[in-house]
Amino acid sequence: MLQIAPSFLSADFAHLERDIEILNRSEADWLHYDVMDGSFVPNISFGFPVMASLQGVVSKPMDVHMMVVHPERWIERVASYGTRMMTVHQEACPNLHRTIQQIHEAGMLAGVAINPGTPVMMLEEVICDVDLVLIMTVNPGFGGQKFIPSMLDKVRRLKAMILQRHAHALIECDGGVNLETGALLKEAGVDILVAGNSIFRSDDPVKMVHDLKNL
Ligand code: DX5
Ligand code: ZN
Repeated sequence: MLQIAPSFLSADFAHLERDIEILNRSEADWLHYDVMDGSFVPNISFGFPVMASLQGVVSKPMDVHMMVVHPERWIERVASYGTRMMTVHQEACPNLHRTIQQIHEAGMLAGVAINPGTPVMMLEEVICDVDLVLIMTVNPGFGGQKFIPSMLDKVRRLKAMILQRHAHALIECDGGVNLETGALLKEAGVDILVAGNSIFRSDDPVKMVHDLKNL
């Protein structure tokens, strides 16, 4: 069965208590938390004070997606808020192998994300070391964008690489995921779906999580 990670970026920040309650009540497997620095991506989201406030209030494990330059600077800090999984971008990490080691040493699962323009081949040397590969299915920086269809074939190629290398990495997709694109992604071999707008902007977010999970 698919795992679902609602994206906190699409929550209603004026009514956070309500959206956190919805999330906790849902069958979501993770809370996907997007950190942006205005440098790696052309937007700024939220950072550590919000992460700290969510600790103990959100009952789902945190899946922290770092869209920042030098993510290695923040490993200890991210771990200190009880984060289960920290994902860094391949494009932001000149010493990717070391960064993955450091995330593990800090007691977290390690994920590596790639932008739509980055080929799967760039992961060959780390595929056996990571717990997760995040395929961006939109260009990172904003919620509510349109799914890029050519990413389906990229997921298939990543799945083939994982099987061929006997790697244990899960495949996560992020951006423009809804019931339609989610079904295509499942067929292509995805394990975890991140969804922001399609969950938080739906009339019944709890049901949407259920429906995505049961695609
Ligand atoms: C985009 C973020 C996503 C975003 C997804 O850069 O990484 O997690 O919140 O939002 P939707 O599902 O609305 O495309
Ligand atoms: Zn994300």
